[in-house]
Amino acid sequence: MTFDKKHRPQVLSDVVFASSDVQQTLEDYANNKRDKHLLLYGPKGTGKSVSAELIMRERLGSIWQAGLAEPFNAKAYAAQHDSFGPILSQWNWQLSAGALAGCSIVDEIDQFTLPMQHKLRAFIDQYEMGVVIATTNNLHLVDGPLKDRFRPVFVDYPSVAQWVLRVVAVMTAEGIPITSSQAQVLLSGFEGSGRTLNDWIEDYVLRLQGAVHKLTNPAASGVTPAQILTIHNTTEGK
Ligand SMILES: Nc1ncnc2c1ncn2[C@@H]1O[C@H](COP(=O)(O)OP(=O)(O)O)[C@@H](O)[C@H]1O
Ligand SMILES: [Mg+2]
Repeated sequence: MTFDKKHRPQVLSDVVFASSDVQQTLEDYANNKRDKHLLLYGPKGTGKSVSAELIMRERLGSIWQAGLAEPFNAKAYAAQHDSFGPILSQWNWQLSAGALAGCSIVDEIDQFTLPMQHKLRAFIDQYEMGVVIATTNNLHLVDGPLKDRFRPVFVDYPSVAQWVLRVVAVMTAEGIPITSSQAQVLLSGFEGSGRTLNDWIEDYVLRLQGAVHKLTNPAASGVTPAQILTIHNTTEGK
């Protein structure tokens, strides 16, 4: 399993958001408190797709199962379908399994051609038993009237300080317990997306594990925080 997959957020509260308002809005969606179609937009690697999946999973609750909740990618979808029948049928399956409302994900909605965007608008005007959660890195490519059917939510990169707890959680899961202040030191100078962050943590974990291996002290089975910082200092500038 890839590092990214292993540490993929499992619940919406694992996702780090730059804005607490955005976090609250998305939690409201996850708790079925909001029913307007949702459009997550912002730069790539801010957690839009993973948030969409977790919102859907939490909305469907106990009836969630992979077969009932496959996210659609607009480009792949349009290569196979020219109508929204498959989304309608996903909603019907979910409703027959006991869902209160249907829920479908359209990732990278901007990849639909304009005629397909028009069809989607007509579709969601006609059928009201489901919610579409769409994502895009290119809001300007989403047709205005379609956009109006959605609640647009801007998902931005979290700050370094906001990433700290996530880094602590991932490092701890990798058997490298560190404190928040140590994570803050490690993160100094980090700029980038959640996807980059995963690559960056993976690099660190591998370097630290390699360094620990080389420690001559046979008692050094686990890594202590003090060792982390020593190793950090000696591997800085890799
Ligand atoms: N805000 C975040 N909080 C936690 N993990 C994140 C976040 N953003 C990205 N990631 C990690 O990066 C991976 C890719 O994120 P993704 O949701 O595909 O980004 P986007 O759709 O915005 O381009 C996720 O599976 C997750 O592991
Ligand atoms: Mg995405």
